[in-house]
Amino acid sequence: MRTLLTLAVAGIAVLLALPSHAQMGGGRGMMQGGGGMMGGSMVRHRFAMHNGIPAEYKSKKNPLKATSENIAAGRTLYTQNCAVCHGPKGAGDGEGGKALNPPPGNLVGLGRMPVASDGFLMWTISEGGTPVKSAMPPYKSVLKEEDIWRLILYVRTL
Ligand code: HEC
Repeated sequence: MRTLLTLAVAGIAVLLALPSHAQMGGGRGMMQGGGGMMGGSMVRHRFAMHNGIPAEYKSKKNPLKATSENIAAGRTLYTQNCAVCHGPKGAGDGEGGKALNPPPGNLVGLGRMPVASDGFLMWTISEGGTPVKSAMPPYKSVLKEEDIWRLILYVRTL
């Protein structure tokens, strides 16, 4: 009986010790994997890495050219819809995003990251935070597809 009790106590101690080890390992992995992410949406990049982007978005290509008109229209749309959370310059520091977890992504430089294909950005803005359980609203029934492409042209200039 005493031996069984000792074994049980030892077992509980091991169980208690395990999660913290697992977390430490995960933490190190994230640091390595996240080194170049510049504060972008880690949760979304991980999701895209593990699950891919839905096929209906994956192959999408921006049909609009990066003309100054399209970029200016994208900037206006950004100021009206996105700056509240992502901040006036896209640094992820908007007033409306301060209490959010996960926090709004830093959009500065995102357009130059390999992950940020047209399909990835169209998926992100259309579906919002639904797939990754974040507070970002979906825009597919709020904005016209053309306007989302204009937003994407603007986000690529940040
Ligand atoms: C209510 C706050 C909120 C608003 C408004 C909002 N977002 Fe977000 N956004 C988030 C949060 C939180 C994340 C991080 C989690 C995620 O990826 O869903 C995010 C992530 C993103 C990402 C992914 C960044 C990355 O590193 O991959 C992009 C792109 C983006 N938002 C663009 C936009 C655009 C464009 C708009 C406006 C049409 C917008 N967001 C409006 C909260 C917001």
